[in-house]
Amino acid sequence: MLVGAVSTERVTMCVQTIADTRVLIKIKEFATDNIIFEKTITTEATQKNIVKVLISGLRSNTKYTYTLSGNNTEVWTEGRFITFSDKAASYKVVFGSCQETGSESVIYSQIMKESPLFYLQLGDLHYENIDDRCQIRFDSAYHKVFSSKAQAALYRNIPLVYMWDDHDFGPNNSDASNPCRTTAIQQYKNYFPHYPMAFDGETQPISQTFDVGRITYVMADMRSQKIPPSYDGCVRLTQGSNFGNETHLTWFFNTLLAAKKKGHVVFWVNSYPWINAPGGPNYKCNEKDNWGGYPEERTRIADFIKANNIPVCILSGDAHMVAMDDGSHSDYATGGGAPIRVFHAAAIDRPGSYKGGPYSQGYSWEEGQFGVIEVKMSIDDICFVWYAVNANGKPVVNQEGKEIRLEFCMTP
Ligand SMILES: [Fe+2]
Repeated sequence: MLVGAVSTERVTMCVQTIADTRVLIKIKEFATDNIIFEKTITTEATQKNIVKVLISGLRSNTKYTYTLSGNNTEVWTEGRFITFSDKAASYKVVFGSCQETGSESVIYSQIMKESPLFYLQLGDLHYENIDDRCQIRFDSAYHKVFSSKAQAALYRNIPLVYMWDDHDFGPNNSDASNPCRTTAIQQYKNYFPHYPMAFDGETQPISQTFDVGRITYVMADMRSQKIPPSYDGCVRLTQGSNFGNETHLTWFFNTLLAAKKKGHVVFWVNSYPWINAPGGPNYKCNEKDNWGGYPEERTRIADFIKANNIPVCILSGDAHMVAMDDGSHSDYATGGGAPIRVFHAAAIDRPGSYKGGPYSQGYSWEEGQFGVIEVKMSIDDICFVWYAVNANGKPVVNQEGKEIRLEFCMTP
């Protein structure tokens, strides 16, 4: 049972059962206990026993509870969600990436304790590295993920917003050549609640955007269209592209402009490290996966952000670390002028790793940590507090023992 694609007046529920059955869905407004939605659905093996139900006409900034029950009214499962506010309200988001397939870590209950408006999972939802027997292996991967009791409890009660990275789209460092690409895209659409897709073709990216308050979250699919550069030793023979084609990149630019026009700040969900260049602590001369190997495309984006004065921050995963940069190391615009704040959060449940950098606020490459974003709205500004929490509920500190934290305001 997944709840997601929440907006000010909608929610999508994804129900999956183990066999063909009828399920009664009941949604109540928490404050009044009034039933506002009731529907019986039938799951069928031909559809993998998954039914997606889109519920609209909800009230904004309102808590709802729901139950799923069988014929004899015995409640099988229950959960809750809160719709987004239609005003410029303050809220909290938790995000992170990289979790063992079917992880039962205590970190999921720690995430729930934060009571975020949603959980933004930036990829490596599992590590099945699927590049053959696509259909059967994707079904099995999702079965393992959703069979985790710890994860299921979270996904029932906190809306899941999910964008894949390499290990859950295909194999390690996967790109557009993944033999399971079409299946991965289809399976994502079948299994997950998601916002409207920017593209709907069977080989096209699962990129999507959504707004919460005055923030536009731009979830760019950085895997399914990716073309890596090629090298002979350290000599780059061909340039790569993370967006993969002009149509995808143009969509991204237009989305940034549209957000700016609305007076929004953009949070760009960009799974792998943006900061990495010659002289950096982890830079390799033949970078293929992170932005260190794509300097031309990165500068094109930075120049666009600079030229159009887009208020943007980057949220990343992939590297199994918490790290933050206040813009002092992230400016790749020609001649400078695009110092973007960057926030990495991982690993939810995997061993640590340190990639890219340097990062102004330092880093922590540990297992069991997630990022927290507090959004505070005022009349003119939008202010943010960024910090990270570990599986034990303690603040995440950098290599010098200082809390990794940023507080700042942006004026869109
Ligand atoms: Fe990972």
